[in-house]
Amino acid sequence: MEIIRAKDVTYEYSKRDEEGNEIGVNTAVNQVSLEVRQGDFIAILGHNGSGKSTLAKHINAILTPTEGTVVVDGMDTRDEEKVWQIRQTAGMVFQNPDNQIIGQIVEEDVGFGPENMGVPTKEIWERVEESLKAVGMYGYRLHSPNKLSGGQKQRVSIAGVLAMHPKCIILDEPTAMLDPNGRKEVIRAARALNDVEGITIILITHYMEEIIHADRVFVMDQGKIAMQGTPKEVFSRVEELQRLRLDVPQVTLVAYELQKRGIPLPDGILTVDELAEALAAVRAKNLESGKV
Ligand SMILES: Nc1ncnc2c1ncn2[C@@H]1O[C@H](COP(=O)(O)OP(=O)(O)OP(=O)(O)O)[C@@H](O)[C@H]1O
Ligand SMILES: [Mg+2]
Repeated sequence: MEIIRAKDVTYEYSKRDEEGNEIGVNTAVNQVSLEVRQGDFIAILGHNGSGKSTLAKHINAILTPTEGTVVVDGMDTRDEEKVWQIRQTAGMVFQNPDNQIIGQIVEEDVGFGPENMGVPTKEIWERVEESLKAVGMYGYRLHSPNKLSGGQKQRVSIAGVLAMHPKCIILDEPTAMLDPNGRKEVIRAARALNDVEGITIILITHYMEEIIHADRVFVMDQGKIAMQGTPKEVFSRVEELQRLRLDVPQVTLVAYELQKRGIPLPDGILTVDELAEALAAVRAKNLESGKV
């Protein structure tokens, strides 16, 4: 069943002059349709300003479409009575962890969401515990968030969303401000929530290596969906990705260049292991046919 159905969504920001008069519109999302099934891990890629965040904000009703419809778990995001239920269903994690953490102690921070929802105290503590465990931060429950690393802070932000028992979590460039270790921690946590808890994940990122495990990838360009498919399908289209000003993973590029030079490798190689295996297979074949 689809948890998210966006149909022909267009979103226009007003352009205003210094006095605040509208002088035109900027179409940030342009006729986008997409469907996400419950339990999917979706990645959204795209150059700066391509409309990724604007689209993401439609999924938890921070924005509503200028045209078209967005339905989240059967609820139309335009239905004002459903806004809070939509935000509990689809929680959002943003780029900067420092703007998202408000508690003085980790466990208190994670408890804010369910507390605001009116969850009974005993259950709040149960949710805080399970959420912190799910992101591997339970050992830090009594720490001050200020002292944590970027990756740890982001995992606390994710736990805060998780404590509201969402069906879907949208992560808008959650790793952009983190070092490589922090990035890995956060992606690992997101993957575990998807694998173990079956939570739908929508990951917006600039880092190609973070989308390798996604079920589907959408590439945005100028407010539209320019490409979509499995990571393998999308990464097979190296030249198109480069035209959309996206970095292709190094190993995919190497495989692509080797392919162009006549080495019969499969399309869309995404990891070093895959490349090594494919090269070994080519070599074995050559040995067999007596070419080497
Ligand atoms: N609050 C706003 N008011 C006016 N225009 C905006 C606003 N936010 C975004 N835009 C414009 O809408 C377009 C899409 O922006 P958006 O932030 O959705 O892109 P993005 O793909 O998330 O970019 P980035 O990779 O930089 O995060 C851009 O042209 C941007 O300048
Ligand atoms: Mg953005």
